[in-house]
Amino acid sequence: MKLCRTIADFRSQRQAFQGESVAFVATMGNLHKGHLSLVKRARQLAGRVVVSIYVNPLQFNEASDFEHYPRTPEQDQQLLEAEGVDLLFMPDSRELYPHGQQGNCKVMVPELGDMLEGECRPGHFVGVTTIVNKLFNLVQPDVALFGEKDFQQLMLIRRMVDDLNMPLSIEAVPTCRHDNGLAMSSRNNRLSGKQQQQAGAIYQVLSHMAEQLQQGRSDYPVLEADAMDFLRQQGLEPEYVVIRRPADLLPLQRDDMQAVVLAAARLGDVRLIDNIQLTL
Ligand code: PAF
Repeated sequence: MKLCRTIADFRSQRQAFQGESVAFVATMGNLHKGHLSLVKRARQLAGRVVVSIYVNPLQFNEASDFEHYPRTPEQDQQLLEAEGVDLLFMPDSRELYPHGQQGNCKVMVPELGDMLEGECRPGHFVGVTTIVNKLFNLVQPDVALFGEKDFQQLMLIRRMVDDLNMPLSIEAVPTCRHDNGLAMSSRNNRLSGKQQQQAGAIYQVLSHMAEQLQQGRSDYPVLEADAMDFLRQQGLEPEYVVIRRPADLLPLQRDDMQAVVLAAARLGDVRLIDNIQLTL
C-alpha cells in the first residue's frame, strides 16, 4: 500500500492506475469493522482500491467534537494494509484548504441538506459535500462506497453526483452492528461500557417502530413520540426519531411502500445516529 500525504504525490500515484477501475472509500479514520466492510466491498467492485483518511474540520459544527474525534493513524494504516488497499491518501488541512476553510468554494444540497441532521448540525452537510466533492475530483473513482448508517449523508452524496453530473456510481453498504444492535461508529469509542449497552436502545426502538409499521400502524406521530419517550427513559437525550420516505426524506404518506426510520440522540457528550429502512 502506498501512502500519500500531498496532492502532488497522490496525483502521480493515481496516474499509475490509468485504464484500471478504481473504487474509493472516504473515511475520517479510527477505522472499525464498518469501514472495513466498505473496503472489502470496494475490493470486489474494482481492480484498485483507494482510501482517504481526513478528519474534515469543515463538517464539525462543534469545536469540541472535532477536537475529541478519535485519531488512530498507525492502527488505521495497518488495518488498510491487511485489507490489500492500493493507495492511502492522508492529507492535512494545508493541502486540502490552502486558502483556509472560510473562503473555500462550497458545495451544498438545498432542501435535502437542510432537514434532520442539517437542522440539528448547521453547516455539517455543506462541509461533507464540499470535502467529498474535492476528494472525488482528486481520486477520480469509478465507484465510491458509503455506509447506510449515515443515511442522509448517503442520499446527499447521491444527489450531488447526480446534479453535478459526476462520472461515478455510489454504492451503499449495510450498517455493521454490535451484539446489542448499536451501529458501529468511531464515536462509540467515547462511550463507557455501560453507555455502550444503554445506546443499544436506539436500535431497539427503531426495530420496534419498523415492526409496528410492518404490522400496519399508521399513527406515525404517536409512534415517533413514544420512541422519543422510550429513549428518554433509557437515559438518552433524543434529538429526533422520525418516520420518513427514503426517496426524499419527507414524512411518510399512507400509500408509500418504502420507509426509513431515523434517530439521533445524545448520550453524555456523544451524539449518535442510526436508521432502519423497510418495505411496507
Ligand atoms: O462519513 C464520514 O466519515 C465523513 O462524513 C466523510 C464521508 C469521510 C467525509 O468527511
